[in-house]
Amino acid sequence: MFYISILLQLLESAAAASFSVSYQPRSICAFERSSVDFSCRFDYSSYHRDITTKWFKPEAHQKQDGTQVGISVYHSKAAEIHQLYKNRTTYAKQDNNCSLRLHNVSKSDIGKYFFRIETNSYYEKYTGPGGIHLNVAVLPFRVTVKTQTANEHIYEGDSVTLTCSTENCTPKQQPFVWFKNQRLIPEATDNVLPIDSVSHSDFGNYSCALKNSGTTSADEILLDVRYRPKNVEIVVLPSAKIQEESSLTLICMSNANPAVTNYTWFLIREANVSYIGSDREFSIRSASQSDEGQYFCIAENNMGSSNSTVIALKVEVPRSRNFSLIAVAVLLFLMAVLLVVFGVIIRRKQFTSKKQSTEQTPAVTVTEEIYENLRKSSEFEENHTTCVTYADLRLPPSTSDRPRSNSQEDNIVIYSLLSCED
Ligand SMILES: *[C@@H]1O[C@H](CO)[C@@H](O)[C@H](O)[C@H]1NC(C)=O
Ligand SMILES: *[C@@H]1O[C@H](CO)[C@@H](O)[C@H](O)[C@H]1NC(C)=O
Ligand SMILES: *[C@@H]1O[C@H](CO)[C@@H](O)[C@H](O)[C@H]1NC(C)=O
Ligand SMILES: *[C@@H]1O[C@H](CO)[C@@H](O)[C@H](O)[C@H]1NC(C)=O
Ligand SMILES: *[C@@H]1O[C@H](CO)[C@@H](O)[C@H](O)[C@H]1NC(C)=O
Ligand SMILES: *[C@@H]1O[C@H](CO)[C@@H](O)[C@H](O)[C@H]1NC(C)=O
Ligand SMILES: *[C@@H]1O[C@H](CO)[C@@H](O)[C@H](O)[C@H]1NC(C)=O
Repeated sequence: MFYISILLQLLESAAAASFSVSYQPRSICAFERSSVDFSCRFDYSSYHRDITTKWFKPEAHQKQDGTQVGISVYHSKAAEIHQLYKNRTTYAKQDNNCSLRLHNVSKSDIGKYFFRIETNSYYEKYTGPGGIHLNVAVLPFRVTVKTQTANEHIYEGDSVTLTCSTENCTPKQQPFVWFKNQRLIPEATDNVLPIDSVSHSDFGNYSCALKNSGTTSADEILLDVRYRPKNVEIVVLPSAKIQEESSLTLICMSNANPAVTNYTWFLIREANVSYIGSDREFSIRSASQSDEGQYFCIAENNMGSSNSTVIALKVEVPRSRNFSLIAVAVLLFLMAVLLVVFGVIIRRKQFTSKKQSTEQTPAVTVTEEIYENLRKSSEFEENHTTCVTYADLRLPPSTSDRPRSNSQEDNIVIYSLLSCED
């Protein structure tokens, strides 16, 4: 009897040794609310036809190596399935196929899952070793920045890696998308985005998401690359065309991180460089020729300083003022001419009235044109030869054709006539 018992036990253990279970994969990372597949195959040989199949999950306080059977995730007797997993599983139910699909996973599903076969025999109970580990990725995505250097800040030239991850784990199979300042980065499709040597142009807000999915993209993270001022240049407001007496402002523009703390303005004139200010803006209330020269600024932050390009300031005298100056000059000239003409007329009036009163000879009336007098002088040429010689000497040859406004000459002529009469 004793021997028979031992024989039976040997037989039983021999039978148990013929159970086998294999899992694929051994570890899964799935997004919250997604479905996961535990691929599984099993083999057994037993005298017992009536077998029980089940998937179980050790509870948190239990051993996680499969030696302690936890709650039933799936059970061939549906009533045995734990409340948490009712209606959430699809079992393959094919020969040797023990695959299980678990729907709508959540953080509470994180843990180990084992497949187990049991027969009526006390000895024919077998748990597939190792099990499958399920981790659940909790959205949203987060972007993390890692640098090789141990510096507090990120500087140009540093090697930086941006990683798109979710809480607990990150499913890596799917293609990712990356955004910089909300714009897609087409070449970035992995959940990591390495930048070998960051430059100031990499400064910006980054976010990521799963491609072709409605999952919310990560909150933006700022890649805070520090650099000394760049592209320092001067902007002239309201415009680079500066009119005399107009006001203008020069602004020292730059791109810097952190922001510029010190500005310095310089004026170059006749090879002398002089300091003129230390604000971001340099204002001129009323521009004059003395403001002309070459200007430049230096922008500085704690990373260093940079000189701006030099701009040449030229102050234009407004054309309208030029015009009015000319107008005033012309007016003054005309007034002078008028005064002279008046002087001539008055003198002539005095002369004729004197003649009328003393000699009673018919004389030139006040209204007569001056050039007529000149004609008269040519009449004299014929009759009074002695006078003609005198008049010719004083009279310019073209005088008779000149307009009367050129009165200086007329004056002379009249004096000539006077001297002739005497
Ligand atoms: C499971 O699904 C069946 C039908 O598909 C339904 O009648 C039952 O109420 C569900 N049970 C639970 C716990 O959701
Ligand atoms: C096992 O069953 C699952 C679900 O029915 C199926 O997707 C899978 O292809 C099957 N595996 C094998 C090896 O037949
Ligand atoms: C998925 O599970 C969550 C709880 O974990 C539940 O609130 C939600 O309604 C479930 N979704 C579906 C489609 O069953
Ligand atoms: C980055 O995002 C912050 C906060 O949303 C915003 O204030 C900042 O202007 C953004 N920077 C860039 C370069 O878009
Ligand atoms: C920049 O400005 C700070 C504060 O005004 C001052 O202490 C510092 O000396 C300045 N640096 C230079 C280089 O002018
Ligand atoms: C430029 O510097 C020289 C020598 O310091 C000085 O003699 C000259 O007056 C300066 N010119 C102007 C425009 O400041
Ligand atoms: C920037 O300006 C300063 C002050 O004039 C000068 O000493 C320096 O050489 C300039 N730097 C460059 C790069 O031009």
